[in-house]
Amino acid sequence: MSSSDVILIVDNVTKRFGGLVANSRVSFQLKRGEILGLIGPNGAGKTTLFNVITGVYKPDEGKVIFKGEDITGKPPHEITRKGIAKTHQIVKPFNDMTVLENAMVGALFGKRARQVAMEEAREIAMDSLKLVGLDAFSDEFAAKLNLHQKKMLELARALSAEPDLLLLDEVLAGLNPKEIEESLEIIRKVKDERNLSVIMIEHVMHAVMNISDRIVVLHYGRKIAEGIPEEIANNPEVITAYLGEPELALKFVKRRVTK
Ligand SMILES: Nc1ncnc2c1ncn2[C@@H]1O[C@H](COP(=O)(O)OP(=O)(O)OP(=O)(O)O)[C@@H](O)[C@H]1O
Ligand SMILES: [Mg+2]
Repeated sequence: MSSSDVILIVDNVTKRFGGLVANSRVSFQLKRGEILGLIGPNGAGKTTLFNVITGVYKPDEGKVIFKGEDITGKPPHEITRKGIAKTHQIVKPFNDMTVLENAMVGALFGKRARQVAMEEAREIAMDSLKLVGLDAFSDEFAAKLNLHQKKMLELARALSAEPDLLLLDEVLAGLNPKEIEESLEIIRKVKDERNLSVIMIEHVMHAVMNISDRIVVLHYGRKIAEGIPEEIANNPEVITAYLGEPELALKFVKRRVTK
């Protein structure tokens, strides 16, 4: 793998909160154009790792290299402008702003934050809303959206920042099976159209097994496994720590639908 094929390197990252080690010497690489699933039990350190990558937290040890540049500990707005955008695990749109205005926030604070004028931000935001299927709701207040639509608005806001790397934190949580299928289609589509690399935190196992090229598993802050979905579903340590019954884990993989 040549270094230009790699968009992100997480190198030996440790993040502590007092005595609690939320991330312990975590290392992995993400290739350009790849979808990497990040899984593990509640409290495993997944969201913390996203916060380290996006500059919300400075790691106690280790480095984050993005597009060949050491971005460790840089402030979040700078990292956003370098091309990393994240959706939040808990969706919190500005309820008294319209759907379009919410998506515009992404453009105004995104990669071209300093250059982009209002009119252009509106166009960028509208394009993102179209991609996620929310363009018909652009003038509605965000408060009126249901959970699925709010999750898609989170995605549109992140896309409006025009990232190269998209971090998705449980965008499928709380959705019904049909909404999950639709969301997976949208994620595949935006990834292809925008040439994105994606890391996806997800507990909806059949979905993350289905969409991911590779999977990294965290447990008590440590990386306990990394591999293609089939390897992960068959990994005894992962089954014990997270997936439970081997038969159930294998079922996730068998349910993979190739589209
Ligand atoms: N700001 C913080 N201050 C103190 N402890 C924190 C903070 N953020 C996270 N933690 C702790 O770090 C650990 C990892 O939390 P994190 O939110 O990263 O887990 P997660 O893998 O995203 O879990 P979930 O699947 O429930 O979202 C947990 O024990 C959590 O309580
Ligand atoms: Mg989390």
